[in-house]
Amino acid sequence: MDAIRIYGGNCLTGQTKIQGSKNASLPVLAATLLINGTCEIENCPNISDVFHMLRLLESLGCKITREEGLVRVDTGQLSECDMPADSVGVMRSSIMLLGALLARAGSVSMEYPGGCVIGKRPIDLHLRALRRMGVEITEEEEGFCARTSGLQGTVQELPFVSVGVTENLILAAVLAQGCTIIHPAAREPEIQILCDFLQSAGAKITGVGTDRLVIEGVQSLHPVRFRVPADRIVAGTYLAACMVTGGRVFLQDAPCEHMQSVFACARKLGTEISCERDGVLVSGRACEPFPEGLVTACYPGFPTDLQSLFMVVMALSGHSGWIEETVFENRFRIVPELCRMGADITVQGARAYIHPVECLHGAIVEAKELRGGAALVAAALAAEGTSIVTNRHYIDRGYEDISLSFRELGADIELA
Ligand code: EPZ
Repeated sequence: MDAIRIYGGNCLTGQTKIQGSKNASLPVLAATLLINGTCEIENCPNISDVFHMLRLLESLGCKITREEGLVRVDTGQLSECDMPADSVGVMRSSIMLLGALLARAGSVSMEYPGGCVIGKRPIDLHLRALRRMGVEITEEEEGFCARTSGLQGTVQELPFVSVGVTENLILAAVLAQGCTIIHPAAREPEIQILCDFLQSAGAKITGVGTDRLVIEGVQSLHPVRFRVPADRIVAGTYLAACMVTGGRVFLQDAPCEHMQSVFACARKLGTEISCERDGVLVSGRACEPFPEGLVTACYPGFPTDLQSLFMVVMALSGHSGWIEETVFENRFRIVPELCRMGADITVQGARAYIHPVECLHGAIVEAKELRGGAALVAAALAAEGTSIVTNRHYIDRGYEDISLSFRELGADIELA
């Protein structure tokens, strides 16, 4: 079955190594298209979104080899610019290839990447910004064709912060004619990691880590070997699981410097957080009130990707609380599933109001998307009795082997 069976109630103890970052690996793999030669990307997570990205690169003529977490991408024989619909449709992040392919090959044709349950996830800003760089885009029913005789650097004043648009513009700008300014640029760590990769390959980018990026186009970039840091959202997922089950867990390699807003929230909820040189030690159940409410925001605010996980934490804290989702318009799909487990949560517009319950009980629940699925696993780890989380494939998009990792920490969990 495409499911996970969990018998809840065990405290998590021990140590787990946090996998490489999905949301850093994907744009870095797309960026290899800008480089004629072979790049070596270390610590790429073994997850289905990376698998789909590698399939897309292969469909374009790249040669891919993989040894454990080391991925080699040889773009010397790039042959295609039309991406196969089945791969594009499966993975939204295919939009990330747009900027890189336009910079490398001057043309792309692709289907519109699908939306998903957390929101419509349009690409209007991507297309508008690229048109301003000299890209002609003809939109059809199912998709679009984009072509350029040469990308032109320009000032890009964006209407609001978008991680994907920032990434696409960086990839389009590093080899463009002239200078590009992106403002407001997203400041997520994944943007900084992408800039680190490109700078190591010879790109000229200043303002990294700020909301104003200045990119001076260069003639070419050279192949590099690059290591992707650990995934802050996966680390936050295991933190949340420890917060609802109690116990003491060392999250090896967790990128503490990029998790400060999450740690601040965890400490307020009563969990001890101790940052060490090579990870973070988390201990103790979250059982303190959190009256001021939790509002998701762009980095360095609280990350929307951990919103569902912290909804579970608050649902089990024994106190009332509320969460406001400001990034996506439909990211409370987990609520009905948590209520089937006995949670008492009501949604009003962009806010979810959480009321205290004694405990959650096991149930058969349905993952509807990646982070909500992981949150259901965390809830099941703390619930009384047996739960089955279905649609495990959503979780496999972003987590290497969530059931093995939790089993190694003492959970009673297995694939079903
Ligand atoms: C990235 O998605 C991440 N995905 C998401 O993680 C993350 O939740 C999101 O950034 C916010 O941090 C990857 O990095 C692969 P946005 P992205 O563009 O780039 C709207 C996960 O679980 N928008 O910053 O798609 C959009 O609809 C995933 O790992 C437009 O309206 O996010 C959203 O409401 C989920 N038009 C808002 O901007 C556009 O052209 C912010 O989205 C583009 C975006």
